[in-house]
Amino acid sequence: MVGSSLIGPLVITMACLLRGSMAAYYTVGGDVGWTSPPNITSGFYDEWAAGKKLMGGDSLYFNYKGTQNLAVVSKEEYDRCKTASKVLGEGEEGEGYGYRLPANADGMYYFISTIKSHCEGGQKLAINVASSVPFMSSLSSDSLSVLVSTVLSALLIH
Ligand SMILES: *[C@@H]1O[C@H](CO)[C@@H](O)[C@H](O)[C@H]1NC(C)=O
Repeated sequence: MVGSSLIGPLVITMACLLRGSMAAYYTVGGDVGWTSPPNITSGFYDEWAAGKKLMGGDSLYFNYKGTQNLAVVSKEEYDRCKTASKVLGEGEEGEGYGYRLPANADGMYYFISTIKSHCEGGQKLAINVASSVPFMSSLSSDSLSVLVSTVLSALLIH
């Protein structure tokens, strides 16, 4: 029964390869949406993001509650709540902005509101994005095909 012991790893491998095409969709802040004090307090979006495993290719929907906007910024701009331009969309209640993380995203992404002192009041989001292709990216296509043929021949032998 050595052959059947390979089915598990094979299924996991295939699930990893498929994960890249199964992007997740998140509404930032859940029902609270993308909003400013007093609707939120400082740290609200950190709490929302905590424990979420965001990956490249996932989408974030910023559901505007009240008149809001959005900017994708650097860490320094996030820390200082200041950005030169980069404002993606200003909108009213019921509008919003969808941001798709690049497929090859890997690392921190920062979002703020640039309206008045919204950002200082806590309307800022920092997320840690994992590459959606951790398995593939660490292997060249040559070594991948070697791996696949090794697995296949192991399955055929047993
Ligand atoms: C708070 O949320 C409500 C409900 O969506 C919205 O109408 C209001 O404008 C928001 N307030 C602020 C300051 O964003």
